[in-house]
Amino acid sequence: MNITIFGSGYVGLVTGACFAETGNHVVCVDVDAAKVERLRAGDVPIYEPGLEAIVARNVKAGRLEFTTDAAAGVEHGLFQMVAVGTPPDQDGSADLQHVLDVASTIGAHMREYRIVVMKSTVPVGTGDRVRERIRHTLAERGLDIELDVVSNPEFLKEGAAVGDFMKPDRIVVGTNDPRTAALLRTLYEPFNRNRDRLLVMDVRSAELTKYAANAMLATKISFMNELANLAERVGADIEDVRIGIGSDPRIGYEFIYPGCGYGGSCFPKDVRALVASAGGVGYESSLLSAVEKVNERQKSVLFEKIKRFYGGELKGKVIGVWGLAFKPNTNDMREASSRTLMEALWKAGAKVQAYDPVAREEAARIYGERADLKLCQRAGEALEGADALAIVTEWREFRSPDLAQIKDSLRDPVVFDGRNLYDPDLVRQHGLRYFAIGRGDALM
Ligand SMILES: NC(=O)c1ccc[n+]([C@@H]2O[C@H](COP(=O)([O-])OP(=O)(O)OC[C@H]3O[C@@H](n4cnc5c(N)ncnc54)[C@H](O)[C@@H]3O)[C@@H](O)[C@H]2O)c1
Repeated sequence: MNITIFGSGYVGLVTGACFAETGNHVVCVDVDAAKVERLRAGDVPIYEPGLEAIVARNVKAGRLEFTTDAAAGVEHGLFQMVAVGTPPDQDGSADLQHVLDVASTIGAHMREYRIVVMKSTVPVGTGDRVRERIRHTLAERGLDIELDVVSNPEFLKEGAAVGDFMKPDRIVVGTNDPRTAALLRTLYEPFNRNRDRLLVMDVRSAELTKYAANAMLATKISFMNELANLAERVGADIEDVRIGIGSDPRIGYEFIYPGCGYGGSCFPKDVRALVASAGGVGYESSLLSAVEKVNERQKSVLFEKIKRFYGGELKGKVIGVWGLAFKPNTNDMREASSRTLMEALWKAGAKVQAYDPVAREEAARIYGERADLKLCQRAGEALEGADALAIVTEWREFRSPDLAQIKDSLRDPVVFDGRNLYDPDLVRQHGLRYFAIGRGDALM
């Protein structure tokens, strides 16, 4: 099948690569000419395990192309997939500017029937707005061409995106037209072999399903973080509590890890957008507003612990930071907890020596050269001459560290663990103080 994808970011690039890998002819359109040039040269700008090889293979086979030529893109695909960003607007609602730009582009160039597939995360009702925009642009050209707008939200996880796309838990297709549903079923057939995972529903329900999924996951995290903060104050160990509740199959062990807050390009913005959507229809979402508030506070928890440990005086301190990415296996630092921590440390006059296996370049891009940030090549380098260590991202290589080396390298033998990676007793046996989330040493 011929597929056009607007937007070559995490979602667009992974979608394009995976559809090309299964034999389709995919044209990826992006407005960022530099990105398109890099992709044409086989240089994948994001870190996503397995992606580079698939892109290279399919570019070579002629099944995957990158262009800035939107007209050629509209001409190419029966399926016009929209995977552009929907960043938060000032009031937290989703900014649909890029989505509506693509709709105008499709309307300006389409000459025959097209199926517009919305992969971007968009508020309920956006499908209707996209259809109206295309129809309006067509009318300006004196045309009235048949078109469909389908909601097909993407559920991939950064860091496991290729695997998630190839073996999805579910494929949500929002359309009221059985013929369009059948075409999407054919398109997704290669990813739907082991059992039927395709769920057909109306457009609005599909749009809301995506927000509901992210909001539920964010709620689980904020719930656990709230409990962790309570555990600390009452002398309980949140990790024991986690196992205690996870063993109830109605609760389950998945996604109930306490930590120093969620970040990334999805949970924070999608929770805010859902709160804004609710407000827009006159409904106050108390629960989701609280989820967001708890998370904002949680992102400062490591800093607050460090500050308290040093009696409020951080000027001149050097803090080693392990982990910059918002989660492991990605170089994405959008809304990462590391940023909240580092920015607070800098404001308090401290310096940061940070190490991340893949997000160094991204950190350099965001913060540039600054005297109070050293980006290290090795985990050990971040400890050398540092007063304390803070762990922000649970990369695998941090899981079994040389605790004796940590003790010897740090000026103050103290670890602030934002991801509860270690057994507190083991850390203490090595002569280190250990402050984690909802467990570890008390710090009142
Ligand atoms: N990142 C994720 O893990 C993830 C997962 C599921 C859903 N989503 C959703 O998918 C959407 C895209 O997210 P992302 O992380 O891939 O974004 P991204 O910022 O990585 O990529 C968006 C791309 O769209 C391009 N673009 C902007 N305007 C364009 C236009 N008019 N025509 C063509 N290209 C244009 C940008 O240059 C950029 O390359 C968002 O709505 C997001 O919420 C993201």
